[in-house]
Amino acid sequence: MSHSSQPRPHRFSPKGPLAGTIRVPGDKSISHRSIMLGALAVGETRVTGLLEGEDVMATAAAMRAMGATIEKTPESEWVINGVGVGALLQPETALDMGNSGTSTRLLMGLVASHGITATFVGDASLSKRPMGRVIDPLSAMGASYTATPGAKGQTLPLTSVGAQPAVPITYRLPVASAQVKSAILLAGLNTPGITTVIEPVPTRDHSERMLKGFGADLWVEEANGERVIRIRGEAELKPQIIDVPGDPSSAAFFIVAGLIVPGSDVLIRNVGLNPTRAGIIHVLRQMGGSIEEVDAREVGGEPVADLRVRHSALHGIDVDPAVVPSMVDEFPVLFVAASLARGRTVCTGLEELRVKESDRITVMRQALELAGAHVTEIEDGMIIEGTAGAPLPGISGEAQVATHLDHRIAMSMAVAGIASQHGVTVDDIGPIATSFPNFMDLLAGLTA
Ligand code: S3P
Repeated sequence: MSHSSQPRPHRFSPKGPLAGTIRVPGDKSISHRSIMLGALAVGETRVTGLLEGEDVMATAAAMRAMGATIEKTPESEWVINGVGVGALLQPETALDMGNSGTSTRLLMGLVASHGITATFVGDASLSKRPMGRVIDPLSAMGASYTATPGAKGQTLPLTSVGAQPAVPITYRLPVASAQVKSAILLAGLNTPGITTVIEPVPTRDHSERMLKGFGADLWVEEANGERVIRIRGEAELKPQIIDVPGDPSSAAFFIVAGLIVPGSDVLIRNVGLNPTRAGIIHVLRQMGGSIEEVDAREVGGEPVADLRVRHSALHGIDVDPAVVPSMVDEFPVLFVAASLARGRTVCTGLEELRVKESDRITVMRQALELAGAHVTEIEDGMIIEGTAGAPLPGISGEAQVATHLDHRIAMSMAVAGIASQHGVTVDDIGPIATSFPNFMDLLAGLTA
């Protein structure tokens, strides 16, 4: 993928108030799933609002390599002609997953129950991320895996040999991961019988909603405080018309920027507010943030609103670890907000952050320290002593934040930079294109 070329350093200078209206791009999780399920339905699926980031394009390229037709119309609608569940073709070359863990894990699920062999490769960040969490359940369903010689083990590059027919399993998730849940459910689509996933802690439910929307036989029960999700396999999916709501994880950068830059007043349109994703909004409100929902509505079967965000005096809190799955991607930017709050913010239960695109606890601790924040790294989280609204010093001289190919580190430290005294330089803004291609333009527009 293109961002692995030359690093693009960028200095984010201090900016005055953010003012104006933006519209955030489509939700990354929903965009991936729209392409995958569209590519498995028989007939034509049409998608508007698709996120055209590199991660989603990696999913599209993989589904094309396995037989689907995926095209963008001049009106920016995406038209997908699927092959049907069970009819994926053998890809001729390795599937390049770029930086995208979601593409990799969900597609590993899909191909596990098809009689095809597929090799997955990725960039330096993705090649360090654990795949054992999907290899374990998918092996139990009958798929097998071989690591490429020289690879470390349960990491990319790896080759998957699918099982047809696969064996249905009942699997209790050992980590709160929507990617693992989704991989098993997608494998279950082409598996005879009923595949069951038990979630002790609920994670984002886009796969369940969309599989049902496409006509899969999927049902969810509560048992002993756990979510039990069942899917009956050998389904026929029916093509859909999908309008992808805006990504709350992308909106989060502008929500925090609006809250911490004095005088700001911004309207962020089209923010998806699925309860399994909206943790950041609740936490920022608990910290005293003014975030008002305007025009609450439904888009593509998901709750959506426009958010009016005004500069607020934030105060530190102990973040309830129970909210972690509903804001797992938003902690880097929450750490930035907490760095400017009054008092101490304590975040725990964040083990999963260490296996994202980078180790987001260590990398954010280093980045915020460099920018003059008072942060302490703990094994499962971070403790932050805020400045009570005073801007962070920022980084003077040649030093740069090391982003480790992690888009969310780059965008979080961009927000820290505009709210600092001297600005913040990040070593590479290239990875921002994986999830938020127009981030720089929207930031420039609001701070002009
Ligand atoms: C995602 C799930 C999350 C999240 C990722 C997208 C998804 O990962 O971090 O950005 O679309 O299912 P985990 O499920 O591994 O926590």
